[in-house]
This record gives sequence, C-alpha cells and structure tokens, in this order.
Amino acid sequence: KEKVILDTDMVMMYDDGVAMIMLARHPEIELLGVVTVAGNTWIPEGTAYALRQLELIGRSDIPVAEGARFPLRANRYETIELERQMFGIGASSYIGCFGRPEPASYLDVYKEKFGGEPTLKPIEQHGVNFLIETIKANPGEVTVIAIGPCTNLAMAIRLAPEIIPMVKRVVYMGGAIDVPGNTTPAAEFNWWFDPEAAKMTIRAPFADQLIVGLDVCEKYRFNKAIFDRVTSVDTPVTKVFKETYGPRFEKDANFTRLVWDTIAATVTIDPTLITEEQTRWVDVNADYNLDYGRSLGYKKQGPAGTQQVRILFTIDEERFWNVMVDLLTQQ
Ligand code: BDR
Ligand code: CA
Repeated sequence: KEKVILDTDMVMMYDDGVAMIMLARHPEIELLGVVTVAGNTWIPEGTAYALRQLELIGRSDIPVAEGARFPLRANRYETIELERQMFGIGASSYIGCFGRPEPASYLDVYKEKFGGEPTLKPIEQHGVNFLIETIKANPGEVTVIAIGPCTNLAMAIRLAPEIIPMVKRVVYMGGAIDVPGNTTPAAEFNWWFDPEAAKMTIRAPFADQLIVGLDVCEKYRFNKAIFDRVTSVDTPVTKVFKETYGPRFEKDANFTRLVWDTIAATVTIDPTLITEEQTRWVDVNADYNLDYGRSLGYKKQGPAGTQQVRILFTIDEERFWNVMVDLLTQQ
C-alpha cells in the first residue's frame, strides 16, 4: 500500500474534500493522516470540514491534525488590502480565507454549519509535528500530497531537515508553469498564498516532486454528465455531493468546474493515468512585487538552488473520471 499524508485547505466536498474521500477509500492507499493548512479555509474551518467528511465515510481511524494558521510572510493577512492595491488584485479576485475573519475554533464552525458537536476531534499534536514524526516513523515510504499552500511542509523541513531524504515523494497541487495564474496573472492560488513556503519546498532535495499545477488542471472540467453518474446512487457522500453541485446544474445545465486537487489525488492513486509530464528546473518568486507567487519552469538549467522536478501536463481523462466516480459512489 502507498502511504500518504494529505495536507489540505479543505472545503466541504469541493476538490480537497473529494481528494480526501478518494484517498481514504482506495484499497491501495493507506491514508496516514490529514493535516490542515490555511488557504481556501482557515484552520478551524478546514478541520471542521475534514472531521465532518471523515464522519460521513465512517473513518474515525484517520487522524486529523491542525497545521499552520498563517503563511510564513509576516502580517500578510493584516496587510492584504494594501497588497491588493499595490499589486492590482481586483476586489473580486479570489483570496481564500483572507477574505473573512478567522473563526475561534473548529467546534464553532462545526456547530454553525452542521449543528451539534462532531463525534471526532483533531489529535493534540500540531500538524507540522505530525508530518515530521510520521515521516520519521515510515522512512522512504510516505508520499505527501500538498493540495493547499505549502506552509506545513516548509515548516516541517525547517524544523527537521533530516526528514527531506526520508520522504518518498511530494505531489503538489500548485503553480502555473506555462499558463497564467488564477489569483493574479502571475500566480496560482496555493502558491500565491504562501510563496515563501512553496519556494522552500520546491527547492528542497526531495527524491521525487510532482507538480500538478494549472497547466494540467485547467484542461479537464467536471460537468453534468459526471454529476449524474455520481448522484445515480444514493449514499451519505453522494447526498452531500448532490447538495453541493445540484443547485449549480439546476440553474445552468452547462455549468462546469475545475477539479484541481482531485487530479493530484488520482495520479497518486494511479500514476499510469499520467499521459504527459516534463522535467524542468522549477522556482517560485517570493519577492514581494507583482510577480509574488509566480512559478517558473526553466527548460535549461535554472537559478542556483533550483533543481529538476516533474510537471504534469496531461492525464487519461476518461479513466480519471472513472476512478473518481467509482470512489465517490462506493457504499
Ligand atoms: C487550488 O486553490 C484552491 O482553490 C483549490 O482547492 C486548489 O487547491 C487551485 O488553484
Ligand atoms: Ca486545495
């Protein structure tokens, strides 16, 4: 079995949630734990959603650890309005959890969204320590799938750089190598949220790093036909899936959506889905300017400190949707 830690800025049932459910259910994957990170959601939000979805699939055995509450750059949240003005991020640009205040606790979020108290709770250990200890306990065996900002992994390798050679592989959903960003023209959301962290991890000498960035993710769109396949069976998971996407398709049958993190999870489950990848020297710009968070893929030798990593460009689309539908519709 492939041992995996999922590092996520989870929302209910969107790409992170689906990725977690798929990894938790696949027989060839052992999901060692879920670590939350600020990005799409604040830690209390992501944690509440992770617990709720593990409850839905009856997997109280999978530990959830709360990770880093803020990106590495000092006062980023407090100065986000200034950043928007300086770098011309439109008022409507997606800035994830920066767009709202941080809730006090996962219990508050759970209660507000779902009523009552969760039957599960996060472990006491901090998410960064969970990463370090779990990697040390399984040297050479753990794949870290970072589908949110890279803050936790960056902190882990700062605290314990000796874990770098012990990690089997890092799979990122992040970056935009040959295509524009989605938060700014320069930067993809996860790596825009914490560019310092992404730069640190992508430059770290891990044995294997795979970038599942916008280059591949923007080629495939979830649509009504896939929605109908998932919701053709009735389970607690498909019920929430229906509540999440049903209203969108009722409004517009031609509605489509990207599924970013789901692709990162699926190619970890089955690497034979990869149909095109390239190797480049990759870097992330962490200078605080218009290009903050831009990912750079050098076809020839990159700047000092960079190294070659794998970048995903295409997947076998039909089989990809099949894997997703199969795992979501499981009883
Ligand atoms: C990434 O940002 C989040 O919105 C998604 O979950 C994904 O991880 C896409 O840029
Ligand atoms: Ca995500």
